[in-house]
Amino acid sequence: MTQIFSLDGKVALVTGASRGLGRAMALALARCGATVVVNGRNMDGIAATRDAILAAGGKASALAFDTTDATAAAAAIDRIEADHGHLDILVNNAGYGNGRTASETSDAQWDEIVGVDLNACFRLARLASVGMIRRGWGRIINISSINAHIAREANTSYCAAKAGLEGMTRALAVEWGPKGITVNAIAPGYMMTPDNMDTPLRADPAKRDWFAQRTALRRWGQADELDGAVVFLAGDASAYCTGHVLIVDGGMSVKI
Ligand SMILES: NC(=O)c1ccc[n+]([C@@H]2O[C@H](COP(=O)([O-])OP(=O)(O)OC[C@H]3O[C@@H](n4cnc5c(N)ncnc54)[C@H](OP(=O)(O)O)[C@@H]3O)[C@@H](O)[C@H]2O)c1
Repeated sequence: MTQIFSLDGKVALVTGASRGLGRAMALALARCGATVVVNGRNMDGIAATRDAILAAGGKASALAFDTTDATAAAAAIDRIEADHGHLDILVNNAGYGNGRTASETSDAQWDEIVGVDLNACFRLARLASVGMIRRGWGRIINISSINAHIAREANTSYCAAKAGLEGMTRALAVEWGPKGITVNAIAPGYMMTPDNMDTPLRADPAKRDWFAQRTALRRWGQADELDGAVVFLAGDASAYCTGHVLIVDGGMSVKI
């Protein structure tokens, strides 16, 4: 039974894995046997994640590049294929919001958020799909947000980009299903990651508690509480699941 969760022999790229959810998912995939290429823009953070995987007996390398840089993204996929022979699993995790209302969002600010949360994910998926299609097997996992489903008052570009990411997930699933690639998304709720766009929310006890009470489980998620979802979607356990958005939000989206 545990064999269907094994990722032995697979190579995974996790973008934005120097901290937070990306780091936790990289560690989880490595624990299940995958060789994990750890990405972020800065070498220091990703080297720490790589070293944590290696210290736990896993297999990992670190590859710094900005996912929004088309030239760097293409070079990174080529490098992974050359170094490891194949790239089987892409986790499009790098992303953030700016907490701005529509009225205070400039065109440039809109473009930045759509650029990192949607455009870069599309480009990496397209680049990674080339080898996956050639080999007839692949897993693409896009990290969306509960904000694709229920909006916050101030995060317009983020809500829109993540909703676009989920639409893209369905479209790519339909296009690449016949090629042996599944494309799914995970939509996390409010997670206790150490230092991200929600740090100011969590610093305010009243707001922190308000978000906790909005969930069925009455708490924020922990950074490692996407581990089961990503391992499921990365391997044979999810072989007949594609175009799906797995909401991991402690029940926020089902509670009035
Ligand atoms: N935490 C939550 O509650 C939550 C909820 C719903 C959805 N999400 C989604 O989950 C994902 C991870 O969130 P998080 O809270 O773990 O974020 P985080 O703690 O802010 O970490 C973001 C990661 O992405 C990297 N990064 C940012 N821009 C990048 C770029 N252009 N190219 C490469 N790497 C980049 C950062 O490293 P460098 O700065 O070194 O590049 C860092 O490793 C995001 O897509 C976010 O929208 C998070």
